[in-house]
Amino acid sequence: MSTEIYYFSGTGNSLYVARELQKRIPETNLIPMVSLLDKDIIETSGETLGFVFPIHGMTVPIPVKKFIKKLHLKSAKYIFAIATRAATPHRAFIAIEKILKKNGKVLDSFFTLNMASNDPKFEDWHPATGEELAELESEVKNKLDSIQNIVLNKEKSREKDTNFTVPVNFVLERLVLLGMAFAEYDGAKDYFYSDSKCKGCGTCEKVCLSGKIKMVNKKPVWQENVKSYMCYACLNYCPAQAVQIKSKFYMNSYTEENERYPHPYATANDIAGQK
Ligand SMILES: Cc1cc2nc3c(=O)[nH]c(=O)nc-3n(C[C@H](O)[C@H](O)[C@H](O)COP(=O)(O)O)c2cc1C
Ligand code: SF4
Repeated sequence: MSTEIYYFSGTGNSLYVARELQKRIPETNLIPMVSLLDKDIIETSGETLGFVFPIHGMTVPIPVKKFIKKLHLKSAKYIFAIATRAATPHRAFIAIEKILKKNGKVLDSFFTLNMASNDPKFEDWHPATGEELAELESEVKNKLDSIQNIVLNKEKSREKDTNFTVPVNFVLERLVLLGMAFAEYDGAKDYFYSDSKCKGCGTCEKVCLSGKIKMVNKKPVWQENVKSYMCYACLNYCPAQAVQIKSKFYMNSYTEENERYPHPYATANDIAGQK
């Protein structure tokens, strides 16, 4: 009757949710997706399976999609997914359902939790204040109480994940996929850089979930031949706020002006521990 929760988290929001669920559901193993991503086939052993991840570009992060595609789901009798997001509608559950369907499985339940944004590249962005965080945490905990019951009773609960009409959905999906492909490509070039505030501490390399960052002569180098998972852990955990985005995709990036957001209960070691 065991439960396996597979999670992916760049700045701790999804990790917090996974940990809270583990407290609420007996016999639950938390498994970081990143730790298994280099395998060709990933065997599950839980009867109940959960996926917890952030929304990236209005859909499932690329590494999460890759992870779910590799799953051998024989053990699974009940599958649920939880997306954490800042604000926008998304198409994550539609994307996951498509993958599961090919394996003859269904996504029984899915839920979206609103949490703090970890994306400082936008103008006038600020990290959530203490008050905002407390309000979000209380909403998340309330929602997790009902998710706990739904999962324990293996009920179906399928929230709407998008408010768009069918033609808008179709166009949006293609645009999002194109955007994600560009983001990955861009990430492989000079999307990130470190500025003169860099002290050479190596935290960015430590938290980099894709292994893209390597310290060379005490400076981080984003290697061109390694694709970024775009989790923004380097950006948000650098203690000197020295990691910046030089995006060609967005007209301007405001990371030099803006502060950063790591989840208050998630340390750099917690994020690095996913590898
Ligand atoms: C590259 C990137 C893209 C994002 N895209 C969206 C988005 O489309 N919609 C949204 O509501 N939040 C978006 N976010 C915000 C995250 O989904 C949100 O802050 C999430 O809870 C972070 O979870 P984590 O700390 O577990 O990584 C994005 C974050 C990043 C880093
Ligand atoms: S975490 Fe920041 S200060 Fe430390 S090496 Fe990376 S860019 Fe430099």
